[in-house]
Amino acid sequence: MSFPVQRPRRLRQDSRLRKMIRQISVEPQQLIYPLFVVEGLEKTREISAMPGQMHWPVSQIHEPVAAAMKNGVEAFILFGVPSAKNSDGSCAARPDSVVCEAIRNIRQHCPEAYIITDVCLCAYTTHGHCGVLDASGCVDNDPSLSLLANMALAHVKAGADMVAPSDMMDGRVGAIRKLLDAEGFSQVPIMAYSAKYASSFYGPFREAAGSAPGKGDRRGYQMDFAVSRDAMTELQLDLEEGADILMVKPGIAYLDILAEARRQFSCPLAVYQVSGEYSMIKAAAEKGWVNERQVALESLIAMRRAGADLILTYFAPQVAGWLREEKN
Ligand code: PBG
Repeated sequence: MSFPVQRPRRLRQDSRLRKMIRQISVEPQQLIYPLFVVEGLEKTREISAMPGQMHWPVSQIHEPVAAAMKNGVEAFILFGVPSAKNSDGSCAARPDSVVCEAIRNIRQHCPEAYIITDVCLCAYTTHGHCGVLDASGCVDNDPSLSLLANMALAHVKAGADMVAPSDMMDGRVGAIRKLLDAEGFSQVPIMAYSAKYASSFYGPFREAAGSAPGKGDRRGYQMDFAVSRDAMTELQLDLEEGADILMVKPGIAYLDILAEARRQFSCPLAVYQVSGEYSMIKAAAEKGWVNERQVALESLIAMRRAGADLILTYFAPQVAGWLREEKN
């Protein structure tokens, strides 16, 4: 049977019917809002490469949290920008690190906020790599694991609800799980950045987090975007090591990976709409070339359609506000 019996347009003529048969939605509680907290900062300042996103002092980090929660966003992921770094990034595990202080502040002012922390050494190492370096300057996998696990433990002790390792060292989920369990935190979930690509879409973030590698790039540990074979292996390994939620990152250019992950895994999946994706929409919208609201929502719906349960996005509070307007 085909045209003229089949007329797919019939279902598109009436906005009520279109709404009735919509499959995909995005809800504020599916969004995770990334926040940058900067040690020693006196007052809030805009991140120039990410219009609308701020560097927050510890003393004010609860403000964006409270504001987003008013619109129904309840989960946050914290990125710390420390005032001092060291060669092995071990300062990341200090109980008074900028992230630990931020967690305590948020807990005090917004006890209901769900606090996730990014676990990676890149903002804490003087060389800007996500793990420690060996004598030849290569990122040394195994000695990095305990440093990452210690960082995660410090965050959890300070009150983090969940940790999210983003470093891409092999075995780090297992190392973190083991240490958290041994320390009595077996109920704290891990969201693993599992299929994380060496992407230039992270450009604006490196300004935001001050985490660009001094020498070289991250292609020795993050994934090659011209290969898709190893993605499911990475996800499977993290699951076996004890990850509770698996992430694909970046978002819009990696929906094939996300869709395949959805077919193969039944655990919750997250996707990260990264800084470059955000800033590109912002920039084009500023020029009047695209409609910011529509393009942002369309991108998030596309990620949900591909199979994401959760979306990390800098648009979180804005989108939640739009969704609320649409419901009213
Ligand atoms: C840390 C980390 C990065 C991002 C999240 N965690 C940067 C990187 O890997 O270089 C990128 C997030 C974004 O671009 O929004 N390793």
